[in-house]
Amino acid sequence: MERALAQTVVWLLAEDRAAERAAARVCNESGAGLYRTPPPSGTPCVVLADASGDGLAGLVDQVRGALPEAYLLGFMAGPDPEAWRLAERAGFDEVVSRGALGPSLRRAIGRLSEGEGVRAHAICDAQDVAGRIGFLMDVDVPGLGQVSLFREKGRLVCLGTCPHKGVSLGRGEVEEGVVTCPAHGSRFDLLTGERVRGPSDFDAPCHPAYEQAGRIWVLPRT
Ligand code: FES
Repeated sequence: MERALAQTVVWLLAEDRAAERAAARVCNESGAGLYRTPPPSGTPCVVLADASGDGLAGLVDQVRGALPEAYLLGFMAGPDPEAWRLAERAGFDEVVSRGALGPSLRRAIGRLSEGEGVRAHAICDAQDVAGRIGFLMDVDVPGLGQVSLFREKGRLVCLGTCPHKGVSLGRGEVEEGVVTCPAHGSRFDLLTGERVRGPSDFDAPCHPAYEQAGRIWVLPRT
């Protein structure tokens, strides 16, 4: 007998009338529940938060502490690229403009409702990498293949292989927040995967990681 999937919920962590109206509309259409407080642990959940405010790192830690597997969707009222980058670096799974909130929220609810709710993968014990910075390890993650785990400026992040020819970035030189591919010298921002220099024409796949309950987890960004 097939196991019934739990109802997906949206945890609204923002005081924003326009975002609340958009979330209520999408939840109504898709049958998701809308919460103002943390839903029970283990519930498939999209957390909707204002990504333009202060204290983003604390907000991300609050969400990951309460619901490690939640999808953290941030919205921004204005198109400030630097603020956008800061939000992605803080560990949001996705950042969108407030006007584009509806479609992104609908997509995220759809994925979770299809049973893709368990998003985070434990990749090692926290003590295996305790006290180390820069490149920590290469690891195979279901659905992602090989990724390289780094710690930069106190944050954990996983980068996929170099988009140029698929070489691991784990053995590349790290300098001032940028990793250089050991094969042909493409350079990528360590915290966002953003391409800094070719020959790669693309950004490196970048997935947030975090420590929880003595383990290191990676959240595949799709
Ligand atoms: S494989 Fe990375 S630059 Fe060529």
